[in-house]
Amino acid sequence: MNKQSSVQAYRAGLLHFHADPAFNERAHAWHADGLLVVENGKVSAAGDYAALAPTLPPGTEVKDYRGKIIMPGFIDSHVHYPQTDMIASPAPGLLPWLEQYTFPTERQFADPAHGAQVAEFFLDQLLANGTTTAMVYCTVHPQSVDAFFTASEGRGLRMIAGKVMMDRHCPEFLCDSAASGAEETEALIQRWHKKGRSLYAITPRFAPTSTEAQLQLAGELARKYPDTFLQTHVSENKEECAWVKQLFPEARSYLDVYDRYGMMRPRAVYGHCIWLDETDRARMAETRAAAAVCPTSNLFLGSGLFDFEQADRAGMLLSLATDVGAGTSFSMLQTMNEAYKVARLKGSYLPAMRMFYLATLGAARSLHLDDTIGSFAVGREADFIVLDPQATPLLARRSANTDSLEEQLFALALLGDDRAIAASYAGGRLVHARGQG
Ligand code: GUN
Ligand code: ZN
Repeated sequence: MNKQSSVQAYRAGLLHFHADPAFNERAHAWHADGLLVVENGKVSAAGDYAALAPTLPPGTEVKDYRGKIIMPGFIDSHVHYPQTDMIASPAPGLLPWLEQYTFPTERQFADPAHGAQVAEFFLDQLLANGTTTAMVYCTVHPQSVDAFFTASEGRGLRMIAGKVMMDRHCPEFLCDSAASGAEETEALIQRWHKKGRSLYAITPRFAPTSTEAQLQLAGELARKYPDTFLQTHVSENKEECAWVKQLFPEARSYLDVYDRYGMMRPRAVYGHCIWLDETDRARMAETRAAAAVCPTSNLFLGSGLFDFEQADRAGMLLSLATDVGAGTSFSMLQTMNEAYKVARLKGSYLPAMRMFYLATLGAARSLHLDDTIGSFAVGREADFIVLDPQATPLLARRSANTDSLEEQLFALALLGDDRAIAASYAGGRLVHARGQG
């Protein structure tokens, strides 16, 4: 019988999480000689090779990744695909950067062919960096969303994305209106939300570029479609915060602007959250909205340092994100590297174990998708990556001198990038192999 089995198995070191290491000493599962078993695109078992190998159907091929580490694919909870071509554009802070680079770059997405081509390149970058799910800003053009989801569906990826809504304080060529932004958003929800692996995010860019009428309609959509996602920016930069105070004098805080319009709820993800106060943090925790922490972006634009300790004290949902194009790398490993340093500068400490949690199960929990992705619990979608501790000569030497899993993961986070991702799988299918395009 040479009928191919629907079961696939992968042998390597196996790491995943079932709890947050900041609050639970036994948060992770580690199998030094592990086996991941996948059936019909979903995890059917994860554990020790010695225990699981005898249970495989006869003839199952075991892909041998010994010496490497398999873990759930990274989740990037805040990234702008249209900004791919303007990554590393210098400007003195957020507002001039938006004016000088972002808006002219986003203008090009009126052309669907341009959107399609950038979306493919962007997805190549995500997968080469081990990111299998992302929460993605498109542009104000509905066709930029069609281009993105067409590309991500074509690869079988679980992606969250949405059309930017902005109806003021932006160039004419990027402006929608309160009514057209809401209508286009609703049509896109109907076209894409839960189609295959696609999920829709209602996406008002940030409070300064939306009128009260637009925020009102965004909040109404968030209530009408409670299982959609919502994404925006909050409290990133001091000048931005001062501007919001002027524009919305009646609001208690920047975050309160969104709260007043009913935009704080599970599956709402707020980018940056640097200048929140204690009341804001409590409100984030209470509403189960989540913060997307973007350290490479925050350091690049000089926005500020996210306070992990205060966020944890409040019990906020947290995830890590690149925020490309203000973020300077697509790599979640490089994002951890910078997150670690941000935490140090705030006088706190992020163990590697916590950072890998935040990039996998922590992000899935932030998105309320932890029953679907983010771990190797049975039935989860088989989105996983293969990390290579020998990826570079320096990483190989450092890896040979590590005394614990924590040290090994820390070296990967600090020294690793796309070279450390040997392969990425989505829904049990190989979607990237290092050195093969
Ligand atoms: N605030 C509003 N728009 C943006 C954006 O595109 N990038 C960042 N980093 N902040 C924003
Ligand atoms: Zn952003």
